[in-house]
Amino acid sequence: MIFTVAIDGPAAAGKGTIAKALAAHFGFAHLDTGLLYRATGRRVMDGEAPVAAAENLAADDLARTDLRTGDVGKAASEVAAVPEVRAALLQFQKAFARREGGAVLDGRDIGTVICPKAEVKLFVTASDERRAQRRHRELVQADPSLTVDQVLADLKERDARDAARDAAPMKAADDALLLDTTDLAIDAAVAQAVEAVGKAL
Ligand code: C5P
Repeated sequence: MIFTVAIDGPAAAGKGTIAKALAAHFGFAHLDTGLLYRATGRRVMDGEAPVAAAENLAADDLARTDLRTGDVGKAASEVAAVPEVRAALLQFQKAFARREGGAVLDGRDIGTVICPKAEVKLFVTASDERRAQRRHRELVQADPSLTVDQVLADLKERDARDAARDAAPMKAADDALLLDTTDLAIDAAVAQAVEAVGKAL
């Protein structure tokens, strides 16, 4: 069975949690496409040119444990605006989306560019403040001096760059189901996503 669930939305809205839960529930494979850009950004921070970094990406890069920091997120969003970087990562994502057995991909351009014919498209959002609180909770363990306001400023800068770029900007596909998780517990958000996928299967 070929079946793709495309999940897009801004940082820390809950895409990853929903994607993982859907994959587990339906037995689909999951690809966090942000990791591809983070791993590319990480290689650029280590001195490689952006397009070469994307072309040379290997499984080891994706397994690095230092990809979740704010600095890497910023580097990811910078390389993600380069059309040739996106082109280098395109085929892998398209093939993953149409693999046998079903796939869930989360990112910014899955429903618009990577898999415009995805059987289910979700666009997951939440208020800036709620997203900053969530991301702060994740990052503060590694960096106790980090404030919610700093995280909020970083998220806003990154979202603005992701939405304004010419190459595959972050936006909801016309046929995406909008899921606002500002005041929705994660279980409830997952339940809505499971229902949407179950109806389309
Ligand atoms: O989702 P995550 O925060 O890990 O993504 C890091 C960055 O990678 C995003 O800010 C965005 O610039 C880029 N990205 C993208 N397209 C995707 C996934 C991520 O441009 N499909």
